[in-house]
Amino acid sequence: MFELPPQVQVLPATPQLKGLMTIIRSRDTPRADFIFYADRIIRLLVEEGLNHLPVVDKTVSTPTAVPYKGIDFEGRICGVSIMRAGESMEQGLRECCRSVRIGKILIQRDEETHQPKLFYAKLPKDIESRYVLLLDPMLATGGSAMQAVKVLLDNNVREDRIIFLNLMAAPEGIETFVKQYPKVKIVVGEIDEGLDENKYIVPGVGDFGCRYFGTD
Ligand code: URA
Repeated sequence: MFELPPQVQVLPATPQLKGLMTIIRSRDTPRADFIFYADRIIRLLVEEGLNHLPVVDKTVSTPTAVPYKGIDFEGRICGVSIMRAGESMEQGLRECCRSVRIGKILIQRDEETHQPKLFYAKLPKDIESRYVLLLDPMLATGGSAMQAVKVLLDNNVREDRIIFLNLMAAPEGIETFVKQYPKVKIVVGEIDEGLDENKYIVPGVGDFGCRYFGTD
């Protein structure tokens, strides 16, 4: 029986989210709808991810002259997308965080060893001083995600300042990932049943990148 680790936060299973998930999971959904509704889920994930940033008290004067006791966000952030599917989440991040810096990491499975291998990384220069929203819609085996986190740690990002956003995840992937990197927070839309023999998430959506970018 899969027990949800405390560092993993699943979005509330509201009728809205369930409806959006139903649309993107259907094999009959045309690409334009897949993009539109996946973007709506991505927006929910980004908004929830931002709730994990530190805040300080801030009081503002209102036009009614009665002050409002609010908050201000403290840490600086950046996004890092795991190419190619993670790039689909960049726009949602930009819509919430104007002119946010976005790095990219390309990891692909090595044909010989079958292990995920780093091909390319381009990150903001001052990334070690930032909170990182790591973007990948599908957390399947966790292999690429763990490689990506290693790249971030090698660039002096603090593990507890990484917030990993996924639309869906397999329990196996979550377990492997949190064992390796217990301080990373994961925000996920839904947790699926598992992986098939090709390491696709089931029920899943099939190949997210191909459906989003129209390359199937
Ligand atoms: N990547 C995908 O696009 N789909 C999966 O199910 C797993 C990884």
